[in-house]
Amino acid sequence: MTDADGENAAVPCRQTPLVHLHEIESTNAEAMRLALGGATGPLWVLADRQTAGRGRSGRSWASLEGNLAASLLLPLDCPAHLAPRLALVAGVALVEALDALNGGVAIRGLSLKWPNDALIDGAKLAGILIETTRIGARDLAVVGIGLNLASAPAVEGRRVAALIDATGHPVSPMVALHALDAAFAGLHRKWSDEDRFATVRAAWMQRAMPIGTVMTVDTVQTRVRGRFAGLDPSGALLLACEDGAQRTFTFGDVTLASEREMS
Ligand code: BTN
Repeated sequence: MTDADGENAAVPCRQTPLVHLHEIESTNAEAMRLALGGATGPLWVLADRQTAGRGRSGRSWASLEGNLAASLLLPLDCPAHLAPRLALVAGVALVEALDALNGGVAIRGLSLKWPNDALIDGAKLAGILIETTRIGARDLAVVGIGLNLASAPAVEGRRVAALIDATGHPVSPMVALHALDAAFAGLHRKWSDEDRFATVRAAWMQRAMPIGTVMTVDTVQTRVRGRFAGLDPSGALLLACEDGAQRTFTFGDVTLASEREMS
């Protein structure tokens, strides 16, 4: 492990301490290690390069230099059953940060795919991997964010986007991290309070792919095709299935037709 700012340097990132590394296998793994060592967060881990970035559902995440690979370690100060709400909070923070990086103007074609992928014109721009752990009596979450700032890595069969192609101006990982930090700070604790979570849910819906978007949801047991029908009050995905039934998903991998590369 090498460190970009000196050995395990903790330099201020607006309001949240930051550990900035040149290279690590995964910022999520490093944040978890720091948690095991006693850190409770909030704390960012940023890496210039990941050698074994982790994606959702056991996939890998390619982290090219110039793109953002960062993880936010957070105390989960809420009842365990509310923790999944953090997924929507993270998605809203991500689009708010992207807007801020675009001079406060919503980026054309940017939308959220449940629970928190950011797409541009249907191609994946950013992904979030949230992992939770209990250390002693404390529940902690690591929110890992991969954002293609400078280049879109090749992912077989998938359309992938980079921010620079959408906005026309370069953004460094550190500047992106500051925008994310500000967005997360603004949403702090909003997932643990009913009324305030309702505002997060509404903000998420405002930036979501359109109702009726055709999608496939993969869970461990099944693959279901249907149309996006919104979120239930807890933030779970509602899918209008081809057989006419409406199903609710609290977890699952969502794929849109627009993400698939036509060969
Ligand atoms: C996804 O599959 O869409 C989620 C990708 C999350 C990737 C980020 S990069 C920073 C952090 N560290 C990891 O190992 N993964 C997340």
